Formats: sequence, C-alpha cells, structure tokens
Amino acid sequence: MKIICRCQDVSEDEIIAAIRQGATTIDEIRRLVRAGMGSCQGRTCRRLVAQIISRELKTPAAEIYPPTFRPPNRPVSFELIMAERERQETEDGEKK
Ligand code: FES
Repeated sequence: MKIICRCQDVSEDEIIAAIRQGATTIDEIRRLVRAGMGSCQGRTCRRLVAQIISRELKTPAAEIYPPTFRPPNRPVSFELIMAERERQETEDGEKK
C-alpha cells in the first residue's frame, strides 16, 4: 500500500478507486477520500494526486484542474484569544 496523502493517511489505491467512481479533479478526490484536507492543505500530496489522475485518465497533467485553495490554518493560543477578549471588553467599557 502506497500512502499518497500523509496527513490524512490516504493510499494510492483509495485514490484510484475514487477515480473509478467518476472523480476527475483534485477537488473531487479531496471530497471523496479527504486527500488534501490535512494540515498541509495538500502541499505535499496535491501534485501526486494530479499525477495519479493524469495516469489513470490518460490525460496530460496540464489539463488537470488545479484545486481550490483555502488560507492555511494556524493554531491560535487561548492566551491570545483571551487577550483579545479582554481588549474588546476594555474597549466596550470605555465606550459606556
Ligand atoms: S499530505 Fe495530503 S493534506 Fe498533507
């Protein structure tokens, strides 16, 4: 078993199965098997998924639609959240 998406633990076999179910784009693969939905947001696996789609559908890689992108998630500490809340409460108190 060859792992393609390390973040979501998705194998090449699962991606091929999704393609055989009708998926033709990186986004469709992502929706079906979650490849690309991990913490790296597909930076590691996106190109590999595109190569598999290209190979399985016998389509040039340049014709594979690029996936939609979301801003990267970053952890926010509770300390920062509470500091922002206190700042807003202080601001609200000053307005009254
Ligand atoms: S390796 Fe696929 S989302 Fe990170």
